[in-house]
Amino acid sequence: MKTGSMLYEGKAKKMYATDDPAVLLVDYKNSLTAFNAQKKAEMEGKGRLNNLISSRLFEYLNKKGIPTHFIERIDETRQLVKKVEIIPVEVVTRNITTGTLCRRLGVEEGMVLPHPLVEYYLKSDELGDPLILEDHAILFNWSTKEELEKIREITLRVNQLLKEYFEKLDVILVDFKLEFGKDHEGNLLLSDEISPDTCRFWDRSSGEKLDKDRFRKDLGNVLGAYQEIWSRITSRGE
Ligand code: TMP
Ligand code: ASP
Repeated sequence: MKTGSMLYEGKAKKMYATDDPAVLLVDYKNSLTAFNAQKKAEMEGKGRLNNLISSRLFEYLNKKGIPTHFIERIDETRQLVKKVEIIPVEVVTRNITTGTLCRRLGVEEGMVLPHPLVEYYLKSDELGDPLILEDHAILFNWSTKEELEKIREITLRVNQLLKEYFEKLDVILVDFKLEFGKDHEGNLLLSDEISPDTCRFWDRSSGEKLDKDRFRKDLGNVLGAYQEIWSRITSRGE
């Protein structure tokens, strides 16, 4: 597959055209950002680890019948995906209370929720990804009622699958963010990435944070935490 021109550069990835108009090449960057890019750093090896982790998780979800954009990983930092138009709604699922949920609503940290909470945020760097209601997404044509129903159903299934996957690695899936897109035929596909940049992972026995919160909160050893997630995934042997 020949790499064409760069189509888009985001905070963590670059997207390139390929010789197939339906396929894009994603190159994972070493940049880390938080708080809507007010905090930034470069971390050698981060792009590689997120590419490896995200590829493995998407392969697992593909195998379980989740419709995704992922085609294949081609090397340490790059993967091929189906070209989609991203729906500008970020879907956050929470199993345990922490982060902005606690800050916004004043609820206690670390509560195990009796069932998962699914929230929608408008994907807008300018506005700092504000929390929105389903009705906002429908009224302003960011998505449709039918699409949001499907998105919620797929999201809850992904939560169940990933929770089970990480439980076996002694990791608690606290919360995570998903993005969805539509391919040229209008198929709804899980897109973007699933990595320690977009999930919160806590070690089951120590409670140690194994994700981007180490960067957000200046806890140190950010890359070590990402490496630990990758080591546990490879120990699973699939
Ligand atoms: P939050 O508690 O900061 O709202 O984050 C909830 C989850 O969503 C957490 O796993 C981190 C992830 N997330 C992203 O992937 N991108 C973002 O821009 C934000 C704000 C959160
Ligand atoms: N991803 C967002 C940013 O880069 C926010 C975050 O994950 O904390 O600013």
